[in-house]
Amino acid sequence: MRLLGKHIVLGVTGSIAAYKAAYLLRGLVKEGAEVQVVMTPAAKEFITPVTMSALSGKPVASEFFSANDGTWHSHVDMGQWADLMLIAPATAATLGKMARGICDNLLITTYLSSKSAVMIAPAMDLDMFRHPANLANLAILRSYGNLIIEPGEGALASGLHGKGRMEEPENIIEEVIKFFGQKKKLLNKHFLVTAGPTYEKIDPVRFIGNYSSGKMGYAIADQLAESGAKVTLVSGPVNIKAGRSEITVIPVESANEMYEQCLRVFPETDGAVMCAAVADFTPEDYSGSKIKRGEDDLTIHLKPTSDIAGTLGQVKSEKQLLVGFALETNDELVNAYSKLKRKGLDFIVLNSMNDSGAGFGVDTNKITMIDKDNNQSVFELKSKTEVAADIVARIISEIEHKSGS
Ligand code: C5P
Repeated sequence: MRLLGKHIVLGVTGSIAAYKAAYLLRGLVKEGAEVQVVMTPAAKEFITPVTMSALSGKPVASEFFSANDGTWHSHVDMGQWADLMLIAPATAATLGKMARGICDNLLITTYLSSKSAVMIAPAMDLDMFRHPANLANLAILRSYGNLIIEPGEGALASGLHGKGRMEEPENIIEEVIKFFGQKKKLLNKHFLVTAGPTYEKIDPVRFIGNYSSGKMGYAIADQLAESGAKVTLVSGPVNIKAGRSEITVIPVESANEMYEQCLRVFPETDGAVMCAAVADFTPEDYSGSKIKRGEDDLTIHLKPTSDIAGTLGQVKSEKQLLVGFALETNDELVNAYSKLKRKGLDFIVLNSMNDSGAGFGVDTNKITMIDKDNNQSVFELKSKTEVAADIVARIISEIEHKSGS
């Protein structure tokens, strides 16, 4: 009973693979999950609500209102109740509506109201699957943080052969179990995360900054919280907000302010993830009034800032984990590894400026994780949420290793 007490909303859409949703439901219930099934109108053409309600022990939700007494079925309540929303099988039409927020059935409204993680198992013919429209919708859904269970290759109901078969129910159940297992692993742990740029003031209206959006650091804070950790997020000026109660944001502006807050918080933590793009230099002098245009060149003298990660590397205990980031333009692997050594990091996440879709501002990232022994793990281009999940999975295994479990 590996899913005891878990609340799962199972969304079923109009695909031939809908019959497999019955096996999926049976398996989830056997593992102890409480499952509320939501079916699209088309799904009911493939499998009856009677089957699904008998297997789940609950009436199937499908319409906004009951035909006989006009009772409203609250998608909001279902969305709040769920620990996980699983949509299997998900047709191309449903993926498109989810990507664009077209709420013409109860399943899509439940999806938009859902506060929980969402897992999607697409099922369709190979040509539909590889159509650019469908691939673009999947990319959008990934960028929202949804977890996609890739369809398998094989015989399709159309008689064709290719990628599009819904993943087998037993494998989907394993993914669900893995998701919930991951979730609890950082309970009672506290992490410090830095994110965003720093602003180094020149005068009251000017500063030296950089293009960091903070998205990667905020995604890591989210994933740590999702895994049960308490997070202190020391953030430079960004336009995003942390949405979870487990995350305490300490807003700062300059590298020096970030340094002070990190040194204060770090001793109470189990580790830190240094994701901020901290300025390496700051103006030597601050002009209290706006610097006026003149005929002569203007020279601003810069002095180095303190290396926050490097300082934490010196004070950290054996039990604490320190993770850094490196953004390199040349000799990436060599530079990243020497940075890891210099700063006393446990592992470093290298994102290359040479990969399109990776780095500042964008929603995707492509990383390589390098550890103290120079072992390198190369990852695909993924959404920052998925990259954060990979980093947190690594943090979990390192923390388990440190505590000897
Ligand atoms: O040396 P570099 O700035 O490339 O190192 C990047 C790593 O060091 C990142 O993890 C970044 O957050 C951290 N860093 C820091 N304090 C600085 C500069 C960088 O914590 N002053």
